[in-house]
Amino acid sequence: MENSDIRKVFTREDIDQMEKVPRLNLVNSCVGYKSANLIATRNLDGKSNLAMFGSVLHIGSNPPLLGFIQRPISTPRDTYANIKESGWFTVNHVSTSMIKDAHHTSAHYDTNESEFDHTALEEEYVEGVEVPFVAESPIQVLCRFENEYPIQENGTVLIVAAIEMIRVDFGLMGDDGWLRLDKGAVVAVNGLDGYSLPRLLNRFSYARPGETSESLLVHNGKNGDDVPRQIADSETAS
Ligand SMILES: Cc1cc2nc3c(=O)[nH]c(=O)nc-3n(C[C@H](O)[C@H](O)[C@H](O)COP(=O)(O)O)c2cc1C
Repeated sequence: MENSDIRKVFTREDIDQMEKVPRLNLVNSCVGYKSANLIATRNLDGKSNLAMFGSVLHIGSNPPLLGFIQRPISTPRDTYANIKESGWFTVNHVSTSMIKDAHHTSAHYDTNESEFDHTALEEEYVEGVEVPFVAESPIQVLCRFENEYPIQENGTVLIVAAIEMIRVDFGLMGDDGWLRLDKGAVVAVNGLDGYSLPRLLNRFSYARPGETSESLLVHNGKNGDDVPRQIADSETAS
């Protein structure tokens, strides 16, 4: 490992020579904050499953698509097996009060055991939907499996799914559809075991070459905070 004046430097060779756990921690955290989501599924026998995922990503909005990276399926993976069996899953945001239980869902329970039974997290069912949502979650997304793409380099799989329903706690969504995640105390993952609570700093108008991006925030939040214009308007209106 080299050292410059202000930082540690890890070459690829250094990374390859690291012990498993420090390498895992370094490489997992060097990509920055990741979304913190619980993926809930159910097999055709009606057994539910819940697992923590930090790789859920936006793929496109029209059609509405999201994806996530599934670890290699060389060992049994309940989430993957249930999705392939039923074709459905839900993505549920993790908020501050849920982090301990959310993390615990990453434990390897047997297929015939539901992580819902080993945590305080509750299953929530919606009419016409076979898979559970996580009741405590402020943002819940129902997804239909579309496709899977093997990542040749390491045996992981990119799962691509269509978004079929979005359920959002009141007070999180503004008039322009934007979800203000900090109002739901939605956390982010730092590495593989750190949970952080991001704070909104600003929001900007659509960026165009040669034009200054304007803030969409106004300074009239209830507590004197800067808040997005839409939220300030809705606070004023109510
Ligand atoms: C913070 C965090 C993020 C995780 N992200 C992923 C992920 O993106 N993909 C994945 O396959 N496993 C991920 N895991 C591991 C799964 O939660 C773990 O393998 C779990 O046992 C899978 O459960 P299942 O066999 O019921 O699907 C993550 C675990 C933690 C704690």
